[in-house]
Amino acid sequence: MNRRDFLITTSAAALVPRIALASAPVELIAQPVSAQILPKGEPITPMLGFNGSTPGPELRARQGDVFDIRFLNQINEGSAVHWHGLRISNAMDGVPGMTQDVVEKGGDFEYRFRAPDAGTFWFHSHNRSWEQVARGLYGPLIVEEPTPPDVDQDLVVMIDDWRLTESGALADGFENMHDQAHQGRLGNFARALVEPNAPIRLSDRLRLRLINVATDRIFPVELAGIEGKVVALDGMPLVSPQELSGLVLAPAQRADIIVDVVSTNSVSIFFPTRDAPYLLGEVQVEGKNTTRQPTDIPTLPPNKAALPDIGNAVSLTLTMEGGAMSRRMVQGMTGGGIWALNGQSGLKDTPFHSFENGQTARIRLVNETRFAHGIHLHGHHFFEVGGDDSLGAFRDTTLVEPGETRDILCVFDNPGKWLLHCHMLGHQAAGMKTWVEVV
Ligand code: C2O
Ligand code: CU
Repeated sequence: MNRRDFLITTSAAALVPRIALASAPVELIAQPVSAQILPKGEPITPMLGFNGSTPGPELRARQGDVFDIRFLNQINEGSAVHWHGLRISNAMDGVPGMTQDVVEKGGDFEYRFRAPDAGTFWFHSHNRSWEQVARGLYGPLIVEEPTPPDVDQDLVVMIDDWRLTESGALADGFENMHDQAHQGRLGNFARALVEPNAPIRLSDRLRLRLINVATDRIFPVELAGIEGKVVALDGMPLVSPQELSGLVLAPAQRADIIVDVVSTNSVSIFFPTRDAPYLLGEVQVEGKNTTRQPTDIPTLPPNKAALPDIGNAVSLTLTMEGGAMSRRMVQGMTGGGIWALNGQSGLKDTPFHSFENGQTARIRLVNETRFAHGIHLHGHHFFEVGGDDSLGAFRDTTLVEPGETRDILCVFDNPGKWLLHCHMLGHQAAGMKTWVEVV
């Protein structure tokens, strides 16, 4: 372990701009940036970002508003922007080779869509994402409810890790086969970026929108100095708010929590590790909110969603295979892909399945590997099915542990071609991806 390993940090210095979308087009420029990833006074890190920073600007609008975004690519290779978790039209999904052409260096593309759901989403590059996202090409996208819950501050918390060299640069080897065959590219430095708009006070009620933007690391999180509940997962409100304990965020997953500040010192976010809790981020508490009355944590209003037609659902199985210590490694070493879904590595001409618009599917996700996978479906959310066959959370990314089997129920009601892939981006790079079609 070098000295960067398990460094402790507090919230960062540079303020990430917020862009409120009225209806006027917004420019989103992918470009090289430098970022103070390490604590102040330590070296800066050359990265990629949007509009001069990584994370990119916070894009914020109200439910039903139109996002009109002119994307300009000023990095040295092709790119495109995917709006993760938004149930929008296929042509706006940002997947080069599937829904649009790659936006070449110097090129641009206009993304225009209406935000159907209120919630916490994010955007990221979807071209060579394992490298472009690791280099910083992502940002938060927030859609507010028509009547947002009553809180003192509504804050995005972006959780990421980076693999840094002694000089503060990103280590190269973004396609390292050893990483890809294991849990992916794990960083040696991690941070939860929180930037309060005003001092945080004792008794304040906060809405924290946690987003795991790491390419490959799963973050269990423990919170200190606050009490409250999880009110939404992957942007979608929970039918009844859940306890904060045991919260785990796979890459790309989000959790909205509403909490009351109960400490006079600080609000802290920890990542429990085998050795000790790693402090991801911390905000000092200053003063006291004397006007807020204690009330129950509210339930957020649901977004519109078709209920699955369970009786007529088509049953499908998607088996995850490959990785270190698997037979498939031989194929991986000879260029056939380290990871596969139902024996296929990478995208083929034919989809995993072609659904009729509105059809319900029950998909059994079988993880036959020794690693965890966060399976993400584009353009839709799906229900996680509980062990007792109950409908669980309505998510766009589900974490399937090694050896685990999980059923999901999805109403395929968004026409087009949609990716279905592991959001451990190193696994995606090494073949763990397929696609479905809704016609
Ligand atoms: Cu977050 Cu295929 O994407
Ligand atoms: Cu995976």
